Amino acid sequence: MRIADVKEDIDHELVSREQIDAKIHEMAALVSEDYRDKDPLVVAVLKGAVNTLVAFTEALSIPVQIDFMSLSSYGSGTESSGTVTVRQDLSADVRGRHILIVEDIIDSGRTLAWLVEELKRRGAASVEVFALLNKPSRREVDVDVKYPGYEIPDEFVVGFGLDYDERYRNLESIAVLKPSVYQGEQA
Ligand code: IMP
Ligand code: MG
Repeated sequence: MRIADVKEDIDHELVSREQIDAKIHEMAALVSEDYRDKDPLVVAVLKGAVNTLVAFTEALSIPVQIDFMSLSSYGSGTESSGTVTVRQDLSADVRGRHILIVEDIIDSGRTLAWLVEELKRRGAASVEVFALLNKPSRREVDVDVKYPGYEIPDEFVVGFGLDYDERYRNLESIAVLKPSVYQGEQA
């Protein structure tokens, strides 16, 4: 789906598909170097990170294993509830593994900080993070992102996996939603 297909709901495009692909390829080259002999386990956080995961792992030049975790911190609004719950857990045992978490966006940082600690608690040998988008002005919890993507302003974005109330995930690029779409939400 393209912006033109939902133009009445979109304010403007923020990151084009070309910019997304360029950043993902840049990060994949770094990761391929850093993890060449480490047999990494790439952990994607469902559902928002799925598009990033596919593009990113295809761009790697090393073999990796992939696993998924579904976490909830948002409900249906645009503000983090601050509480992380596991909806679906990994199938892999992370003990002794080098883990690379793939995230769509880091906002407050609460989801990621929780996940990094959880994977370390389970005995991972190392835990690093690739996040396609980052809203530094919204950070509440300090998290170390080894592979940062694009810094974006404090605006609610959708597309390339990111949703508002489960919609717009299949938009091919990343765009700012018109506030009128989520006006009146119970955040
Ligand atoms: P955090 O715990 O506040 O860092 O929230 C991270 C999660 O919130 C991301 O994985 C997204 O699912 C969601 N999120 C944060 N900002 C946005 C946004 O602008 N659009 C869509 N989802 C977002
Ligand atoms: Mg998410």
